[in-house]
Amino acid sequence: MGANLETQPTTTKPAESAAERKAPRSLIDILDFDVTEIDKLVETGVDIANNPGKYATACTGKILATLFYEPSTRTRLSFESAMFELGGNVLGFSQAASSSVSKGESVADTAKTISCYADIIAMRHPLEGAPFVAALNASVPVINAGDGGHNHPTQTLTDLLTIYREKGSFSNLTIGFCGDLKFGRTVHSLINALSRYEGVRMVLISPDELKVPSYVIQDVLEKKGIEYVETASLEEAMPELDILYMTRIQQERFADIDEYLRLKDSYILTPDKLDTAKEDMRILHPLPRVNEISVAVDDDPRACYFEQVLNGKFIRMALIMKLLEESK
Ligand code: NCD
Repeated sequence: MGANLETQPTTTKPAESAAERKAPRSLIDILDFDVTEIDKLVETGVDIANNPGKYATACTGKILATLFYEPSTRTRLSFESAMFELGGNVLGFSQAASSSVSKGESVADTAKTISCYADIIAMRHPLEGAPFVAALNASVPVINAGDGGHNHPTQTLTDLLTIYREKGSFSNLTIGFCGDLKFGRTVHSLINALSRYEGVRMVLISPDELKVPSYVIQDVLEKKGIEYVETASLEEAMPELDILYMTRIQQERFADIDEYLRLKDSYILTPDKLDTAKEDMRILHPLPRVNEISVAVDDDPRACYFEQVLNGKFIRMALIMKLLEESK
């Protein structure tokens, strides 16, 4: 006898609404993690660096989706490499044109869809806030892998692990940020992260047109009483720096190409400019480098941007493990 679909009582539970579902922990802004959690991640990152192989099966059977709507080399590949090193698998896309976004699909729908295929999502998007929208709609953790000129929390974790491995602490350091401090999302996230440690001083080195946005100055530096100075002179700042964080001028975020061309070579770090730097200063750069650090600087023992790249893999391994553990 065929079932009468019109009158048959249903025994299936109604699907949970998105509001009823417990949202898994995501990382959208570096301040989503408290200092204790950051310190623990850095500690795990150091352990991974010292014990390669120890975590080889930590994520067996798990899938990471990398949804990259904007170009990337290090961030996407370090996420993928991190997941492989943990014994997991990876799927995803590296350009919006090859996904359904080109047909007009919303970030919210994409996030719901990918939640059916993957256990964790890393998303990069040109629009500020897009990974946040994804996290509101996904049923798996979402990691912000860079949203427009806004934030880049996993680069910040990378930078923190590098500073810790080089300096042994985050406190009592003078950090110089140099270059495009307006559009450089890595700068905004790192300022936020470092502002929670004791005795940190910041020297903000940029042309007038590319200064740190006023919302970062007011909501972070002023609010927390962080000591900072703004200057256009890298030469003057150099002798006092413990960390020099160089950045490229972010061509893709300029509305006016002529302004980019005028500003693009504002700072070029060459070996002679390091003559006045401390012997134990460290040079960081999130990369990619364009012109702002001459390749001759790469041999200087203070240059550690390629070590920073490797640290990016270690800390992303630590992060994936943490978020998957918390979403169980
Ligand atoms: C940075 C980014 O994408 O914001 N790159 C990276 O992720 N390592 C820095 C940059 O593009 O200048």
